[in-house]
Amino acid sequence: MELTIVWYLRMSLIYFVAGAVIGLGMILWPSESGMYTPVHAHLNLLGFMSMMIYGVGYHILPKFSGQHIYSPAIMKVQFWMANAGLIGMAASWPFTMGDSSFAGTVLMVSAILSLGSVVLFAFNIIKTIKAV
Ligand code: HEM
Ligand code: HEM
Repeated sequence: MELTIVWYLRMSLIYFVAGAVIGLGMILWPSESGMYTPVHAHLNLLGFMSMMIYGVGYHILPKFSGQHIYSPAIMKVQFWMANAGLIGMAASWPFTMGDSSFAGTVLMVSAILSLGSVVLFAFNIIKTIKAV
């Protein structure tokens, strides 16, 4: 398996553990849970689930189509954008509940990176898949 794909899968599983730990933390400390809900939701949905789909998708969809990945370079750039975006979102979200404009800026930049990585994935896969 290609190394970048292995790292998509590893990061997915790391985000799964982190998301689940925060979920348990939210049960243990319900008064604090509100500010961690978007962190928990996105570590699980954008981290675990989307990152798993990126990795499995990059590995299997080209094979199903009898093709190589359209752009391995986009796959690598997307990996860094997706991780930087998610980590930035997860780290800044709780601080945006106060009045920190710095956290708000980090969240905005990170959200744009996350969205960019989604668009790159869609583009790369659309250009890869072919009817056989
Ligand atoms: C060990 C596993 C998990 C624990 C202990 C846990 C715990 C929690 C808790 C306590 C909440 C807040 C509920 C509330 O007060 O409204 C929550 C919300 C949420 N969880 Fe989990 N969770 C776990 C796994 C997952 C997984 C695997 C996913 C997705 C793949 C997920 C997605 C969500 C989402 C999207 C919300 C927000 C729902 C909303 O908008 O109110 N959770 N979770
Ligand atoms: C492209 C990156 C994404 C950005 C920038 C983003 C942004 C946001 C924002 C700003 C919120 C409101 C959070 C709040 O309560 O203050 C939110 C909530 C939510 N998003 Fe996303 N999102 C992204 C991707 C996704 C994906 C891929 C999924 C599902 C697969 C998802 C599922 C959810 C859910 C379930 C909630 C409600 C959770 C909660 O109650 O906090 N998001 N998102």
